[in-house]
Amino acid sequence: MKRQRLLCLLLLPLLALLPSRETAPALAPTPTGYLALTFDDSPNGAATERLLDGLAARGAHATFFVIGEQIEGQEALLRRMADEGHQIGNHTFTHRRLDNSGAVGRHELERTEELLAATLGGAGYWVRPPWGFASAETLREAATPLVHWSLDTEDWKTRDADKVARLIIDHAQDGDVVLLHDCYESSVDAALAAIDALSARGFAFVTVEELFERMGVAPETGCFYCRPDRLREVR
Ligand code: NI
Repeated sequence: MKRQRLLCLLLLPLLALLPSRETAPALAPTPTGYLALTFDDSPNGAATERLLDGLAARGAHATFFVIGEQIEGQEALLRRMADEGHQIGNHTFTHRRLDNSGAVGRHELERTEELLAATLGGAGYWVRPPWGFASAETLREAATPLVHWSLDTEDWKTRDADKVARLIIDHAQDGDVVLLHDCYESSVDAALAAIDALSARGFAFVTVEELFERMGVAPETGCFYCRPDRLREVR
């Protein structure tokens, strides 16, 4: 009897793992919308680490556009981003605008692409032009899709976590690409608060690349996307 009881106790946790029609938990509901949070001028040490902790705790993914000259000394942080399923992109080497810098801008993109490839492997890191400035020439020469944004939080201007979170919560729509910066603690707080509020409304947080997949749009080289279904005009 005693042995039987012991056996039951041992088997009980195993039984919980078996599928049962009566007790199987309901599948997570299909998200009502998808959002891509993007963080520019990355990586930024402790603030980025705290953001990664918060994203991991929430099962959320994001996209980080990296400044090449900030990579040295932060390679482990970049690897962590990649390992945890976030997308990493190219934001030039010194935050150079691409619409008027010709060969210098091209070189900055190449140098950062090489550093990302050396640190993470892979190739073809998507580009976010600093300040959103790109010319027709930039697009013609691009080797990847270029990513603008459809919702600008102006987090660099206000540096107010409540305001930035409120802006995202009130304005984000299915398919939006949201611009933030992980160099500000206020932006980290805002992003995590927005994820909490919008997850409760059924939104899921994905990388830019996954947003294209979810919306059934094939990303094209040399296109400058505000969001998968909207291009940014350049002259
Ligand atoms: Ni930037």
